[in-house]
Amino acid sequence: MDFMEYDERITSANQNKEEEGVELTLRPKKLEDYIGQKTATENLKVFIEAAQMRNEPLDHVLFYGPPGLGKTTLAGIIANELGVDLRITSGPAIERAGDLAAILTNLNENDVLFIDEIHRLNRSVEEVLYSAMEDYALDIIIGKGPSARSIRLDLAKFTLIGATTRAGSLSAPLRDRFGVVSKFELYTIEELKKIILRSAGLLNIEVDDASLEAMAKRSRGTPRVANRILKRVRDFSQVKGRGVIDLDITNETLKSLGVDEYGLEALDREILKLIIERFKGGPVGIDTIAASIGEDRVTIEDVYEPYLIQAGFLHRTQKGRMVSEQAYKHLGIKMPE
Ligand SMILES: Nc1ncnc2c1ncn2[C@@H]1O[C@H](COP(=O)(O)OP(=O)(O)O)[C@@H](O)[C@H]1O
Ligand SMILES: [Mg+2]
Repeated sequence: MDFMEYDERITSANQNKEEEGVELTLRPKKLEDYIGQKTATENLKVFIEAAQMRNEPLDHVLFYGPPGLGKTTLAGIIANELGVDLRITSGPAIERAGDLAAILTNLNENDVLFIDEIHRLNRSVEEVLYSAMEDYALDIIIGKGPSARSIRLDLAKFTLIGATTRAGSLSAPLRDRFGVVSKFELYTIEELKKIILRSAGLLNIEVDDASLEAMAKRSRGTPRVANRILKRVRDFSQVKGRGVIDLDITNETLKSLGVDEYGLEALDREILKLIIERFKGGPVGIDTIAASIGEDRVTIEDVYEPYLIQAGFLHRTQKGRMVSEQAYKHLGIKMPE
């Protein structure tokens, strides 16, 4: 695989090559080990129990929110709690309607099918999904020309879990077929501390509370980033020969990786600086920001903006993006009267 597909920045919420394996170890497998996302998990717990009592499949579920927040993990947990098999695929991987038909006909009663990046399904594949989701059936055309006829093939009753970073790019007919829609939120510092502590336990790393806090604060509300920071800090502490992780080694690691005390790195600071220096603090449109920085709009909206907003550096207004007083302070730039 082309390594350029992986994003190697420490604060990137996208999975990198090394993480494919490690994430399996760190992924919680039971609902009680899954930290945070209370609204989503508490509702799901009820729905899972109800489905089990009726011996019916769980309603189709849509997860949306930025990468690295635990969508794939929660899908795995749901299948696990239901005691059924999980089949994982993604929007771009299903090229033709026939590919999807093959997957669907291989599912057993109450199984979970997880489709990641479901907003990237192509149109003809998506249409097959409609009757599959609604009636647990496939309509197949046999033959060609005047003798062609359509037959209906029954499927096992299954649960579709779709995940997307952008609920807005889903077509209305697809979105409407999900009985449960859950929005994933960025995690709080407290939740991230718990996640890092749990991972440290699994990786046999000793961490004190001050370092936990420092790592959590730089994780951009994202468990994937938190786990990655923990592993980097561990590397540093091993090489420096100290073994135990303390605040000094944590700060040293993050400094050498170019991550500041709020988890911002070069491009975040560049965005804020641009708005301050060229647009007097805003408001400025997202397309203008994207063009000036040379990043695409979707990346800025999905990857950088959610955290800049949550951390209070950026506001979204009717007229465009504006930086906050805190952004001026953090960058050491005097705010105009
Ligand atoms: N709620 C959580 N509790 C503990 N660890 C989590 C949680 N959510 C995510 N993680 C960790 O973060 C990593 C990335 O999560 P993942 O489910 O792949 O995110 P997404 O599918 O939303 O991109 C997982 O390997 C897991 O270790
Ligand atoms: Mg995922």
